[in-house]
Amino acid sequence: MTQPVTIRPLGYSDLPQVIAVERRVFPTPWSLAMFVLELSKPSGVCLAALVDGKLVGYLICARYDQIWHLMNIAVDPSARRRGVATGLLARMLERAGPDAPYTLEVRTSNSGAIALYEQFGFRAAGTRRRYYQDTGEDAMIMWRTTADRSGTGFAG
Ligand SMILES: CC(C)(COP(=O)(O)OP(=O)(O)OC[C@H]1O[C@@H](n2cnc3c(N)ncnc32)[C@H](O)[C@@H]1OP(=O)(O)O)[C@@H](O)C(=O)NCCC(=O)NCCS
Repeated sequence: MTQPVTIRPLGYSDLPQVIAVERRVFPTPWSLAMFVLELSKPSGVCLAALVDGKLVGYLICARYDQIWHLMNIAVDPSARRRGVATGLLARMLERAGPDAPYTLEVRTSNSGAIALYEQFGFRAAGTRRRYYQDTGEDAMIMWRTTADRSGTGFAG
């Protein structure tokens, strides 16, 4: 039986669980200080996803002027392909506004994340050469703008 996923604002007290997932998921994980900095910004959208009271995913989205930057999203490997990231992104769009411009960077090899972002109307818009210092991999830059979203299931 699939347990329901709860999405709520991320708090400082979630950070030990966030760090545990972050270290499992990323080759170069964010430090605690990076999460604290993003949580301290009043304009940001920071969300937690919980199953049965346990944190299984999180999302960090920061606002720079009028543009939203999706900085981090991760789901624990044990909770993937159950719509957790979909729930986080849908809530982000609700909170930050469906018509605002959004951007992100993603490893060009991360086809799963790219497929997820495309479902939400993000589109490739160039690369940053050797953006990831750990592997030297390029980043794909993606944007979600009103003009890009015609024909997507999640168009607001
Ligand atoms: C990318 C990630 C956040 C997706 O989380 P998730 O909760 O499993 O995603 P969802 O269940 O909401 O997936 C929704 C859809 O996205 C696509 N998708 C997600 N992961 C995928 C994968 N590994 N391969 C192919 N498609 C994928 C699918 O279309 C999926 O729908 P489906 O399961 O019905 O086929 C998760 O795999 C993760 O944490 N990866 C490591 C961290 C990471 O890469 N973060 C992004 C950095 S830019």
